[in-house]
Amino acid sequence: MPFPKHIRLVEVGPRDGLQNEPNPIATATKLELIDRLGGAGIAYIEAASFVSPKWVPQMADHRQVMTGLTRRPGVTYAALTPNLKGLEVALECGVEEVAVFGAASEAFSQKNINCSVAESLARFEPVLERAKQAKVRVRGYVSCVLGCPYEGAIAPAKVAEVSKALYEMGCYEVSLGDTIGVGTPLAAKRMLDAVSRDIPMDKLAAHFHDTYGQALANLYAVLEEGLGVIDSSVAGLGGCPYAKGASGNVASEDVVYLLNGLGIDTGIDLNKLAETGTWITNTIGQPNRSKVGVALAAK
Ligand code: HMG
Ligand code: MG
Repeated sequence: MPFPKHIRLVEVGPRDGLQNEPNPIATATKLELIDRLGGAGIAYIEAASFVSPKWVPQMADHRQVMTGLTRRPGVTYAALTPNLKGLEVALECGVEEVAVFGAASEAFSQKNINCSVAESLARFEPVLERAKQAKVRVRGYVSCVLGCPYEGAIAPAKVAEVSKALYEMGCYEVSLGDTIGVGTPLAAKRMLDAVSRDIPMDKLAAHFHDTYGQALANLYAVLEEGLGVIDSSVAGLGGCPYAKGASGNVASEDVVYLLNGLGIDTGIDLNKLAETGTWITNTIGQPNRSKVGVALAAK
């Protein structure tokens, strides 16, 4: 299948990238990061997470982040909302889009959101209803699509089942999370093949962490299958607090460089994005995990 002419990037750095940071990060730093990402041409930024501050302290300033944003025209600022409580606060803060997050693994669901997969789906129903009333679109995440830190291998059929439930509930797009970055290209293709039997390919996104260094190869594999939306994190920041050892998402700079090379348009200024990666990693004292970012900074 020929590659699409355009790929949509979902920048999750301010949320997935920062949620696991051990040291407090100033709200002003988060706001500057979000603004710089918008300035680099990123049109969709997951900016915050309306989860319990006891569970994820780093996202405790979600109100300040969401209300403190300088909104750029054409940019969507989204947030995670695991339940109605989170959604109500997010709506008060003027969120434009939200995301619910489930898992293809029972054990991960319990550790991450304190309920079973079935309970989580039941909990998301009223979130979708309320969001619909408020005319806010909802994205759905499925974690552990290529493996679970607690259960190991995950059957593609289970990923397909949970994805289908989210899609049928009204999620406009389902993002497939390799939470612990264990996937390899053939496994990614097989998983996508199972999911795309029930959900149109243009309603699916890839959310691959790069723990084992396979994320770019896995992305190339699913691009070949026709997938058109990629989640990534500037400088490869991040990890999930409930998936020990999981490193960041695939770096946004590396994805843009790959897509540029394939002649696929993203609308993103790679140099500005790379400068943002250098700035945020210097500011929070983390290594830059984007090879492209490091290479461009050394020029
Ligand atoms: P719970 O303890 O079962 O919830 O947590 P509860 O309803 O029993 O409430 C307990 C307390 O939490 C109460 O406060 C509630 O008010 C409060 P208390 O009375 O004890 O003071 N609470 C909230 N506070 C703020 N915002 C809320 C909220 N809800 C309840 N929305 C809950 C259930 C889902 C809240 C909890 O488990 C949680 O916050 N989990 C978040 C975990 C998380 O954020 N993980 C990382 C994001 S997911 C991810 O990274 C994967 C992804 O990137 C894809 C991939 O890579 O695979 C998306
Ligand atoms: Mg993630």
